[in-house]
Amino acid sequence: MATKTSSFGSSKREAHDSSVFYARNLYSGDFPSLHRLLAELCKQIKKRSVPAKPLHDWVNRIYCHTAEDMSHLPDESVALAFTSPPYNSGKDYDEDLDIGAYFALMSRVGAEVYRVLKPGGRYVINIANLGRKPYIPMHAYFYITHTGLGFLPAGEIIWQKSKGANSSCAWGSWLSAKAPRLRDLHEYLLVFVKDDFSRPEKGTSDINKEEFMSSTLSIWEVPPESAKKVGHPAPFPVELASRVIKLYSYVDDVVLDPFAGSGTTCVAAKKLGRYYIGYEIVPEYCDLCGVRLE
Ligand SMILES: C[S@@+](CC[C@H](N)C(=O)[O-])C[C@H]1O[C@@H](n2cnc3c(N)ncnc32)[C@H](O)[C@@H]1O
Repeated sequence: MATKTSSFGSSKREAHDSSVFYARNLYSGDFPSLHRLLAELCKQIKKRSVPAKPLHDWVNRIYCHTAEDMSHLPDESVALAFTSPPYNSGKDYDEDLDIGAYFALMSRVGAEVYRVLKPGGRYVINIANLGRKPYIPMHAYFYITHTGLGFLPAGEIIWQKSKGANSSCAWGSWLSAKAPRLRDLHEYLLVFVKDDFSRPEKGTSDINKEEFMSSTLSIWEVPPESAKKVGHPAPFPVELASRVIKLYSYVDDVVLDPFAGSGTTCVAAKKLGRYYIGYEIVPEYCDLCGVRLE
């Protein structure tokens, strides 16, 4: 039986029918003018400012609220943000945005992350590239929008999710050069920093030698998380979040996930003795975060 793109978890790909995916508004945009549009978007973002307040008044919370407005958080208060944004590819929670509207949303959230990060703070974004006809290099567009917001690129991790393609038969023309298609085994973790490539303040790191040696390599092999097990359409594994948190933050730092989903980043932060903050707009997932954090 032919498979279809799934709105929950990852689908198998056997005689795959991708018509639903290609009918999405993601493919309705004018790609050649996208660079200009993204540069324009970054200029239009409204800046807000929130004064300092006592730490315990705003940390260790999941805000069931859009991350486009994080006015619960003071300026320059967060050391690390790690997230996987909605990919706009047809998961249960995805709106069907065109590429301009999608990056307008990412820019509004990115501007808020920039505001709340301390100088030397990091924003690590997990993203996958999409489609094949044409291939949409989402990571390239994230570079354009986020450097436009002021972030400095500091590196890129390839998250290798599996060694083999498992059940994916989406190879295009079988044993023929007519139209072979690549089957992705990886996603990206784009590492951005604010203002400074090193943290101006000292702190306690809890990464051991083995972890440091492997996490400073640019390919991370971490098995994916099961959507069914977690109860969210696209969770990343706690191990992935833990590796990012240990490498890029000190103990007792504040760690933010602006698209918290099932709360994986917050769970890892709590386990590792960091303060956490999550933003999530779907009330059911906010409840799930609460359960997992307990
Ligand atoms: C890819 S999922 C994150 C999954 C998460 N990393 C985990 O491990 O469970 C993206 C999440 O962003 C949420 N979301 C979408 N738009 C949002 C917004 N404007 N503000 C906050 N959350 C949003 C979606 O509901 C979805 O749960």
